[in-house]
Amino acid sequence: MSCPHCKGAEKVFDASTARGDLEDYRRNGPAKTTRLLLDAIRSAAKSGLTLIDIGGGVGAIQHELFKDRVQSAVHVDASTAYLGASQEEASTRGHRDRVRYVHGNFVELAPEIAEADIVTLDRVLCCYPDMPALVKASASHARQVYGVVYPRDTWWMRLAGRMLNGWFWIRRNPFRFFVHPAASVDNAIRANGFTPRFHRNSGMWQIVVYGR
Ligand SMILES: C[S@@+](CC[C@H](N)C(=O)[O-])C[C@H]1O[C@@H](n2cnc3c(N)ncnc32)[C@H](O)[C@@H]1O
Repeated sequence: MSCPHCKGAEKVFDASTARGDLEDYRRNGPAKTTRLLLDAIRSAAKSGLTLIDIGGGVGAIQHELFKDRVQSAVHVDASTAYLGASQEEASTRGHRDRVRYVHGNFVELAPEIAEADIVTLDRVLCCYPDMPALVKASASHARQVYGVVYPRDTWWMRLAGRMLNGWFWIRRNPFRFFVHPAASVDNAIRANGFTPRFHRNSGMWQIVVYGR
């Protein structure tokens, strides 16, 4: 991975974070915002589909959609520890052989990844500085449905982001949290031929699902 920011992501999303998130997922299921995203995807998509889950973390979206919507998935992640946790859970659930795991920055890897019916970025746009590049690379890979969870574009989220980034600066970690302007995110997604079908705010996040 040539992107310094992605190297920072390796430190933030390390083995201990991945272990904690996996235990939380096993105990409580997907986070509320992920559940909202999953419900909206289920409303927009039929069964037997393919998925690219970018920055999928412990793989909650894949594990859940394997139940009734998806037959195969690609999980691309900048965190080695999250990929390991996602594989561990997929083995436990018996669908390990239906997922391809790719480590790295999706923007760099996109040319080697085939299109899929559904593409998801659950709390990932906030981890990447060049939002237009990540949206372009990912939305152009989605044949039917594009689902994103990203920070609400409010003054208090921007303030929280600045405080968090101060902490990363003190820790000498190049990772940063981004509150990208919602209108710019929406325009970048629409530029790839998508129209919003679902939008919901929940706490600090917004959940948006687009269809072609
Ligand atoms: C905040 S975590 C979210 C994990 C999971 N989707 C969730 O909601 O619990 C952000 C994830 O995005 C990944 N990520 C960030 N930028 C990425 C990029 N450009 N390519 C691939 N993965 C990326 C990180 O490695 C991390 O796994």
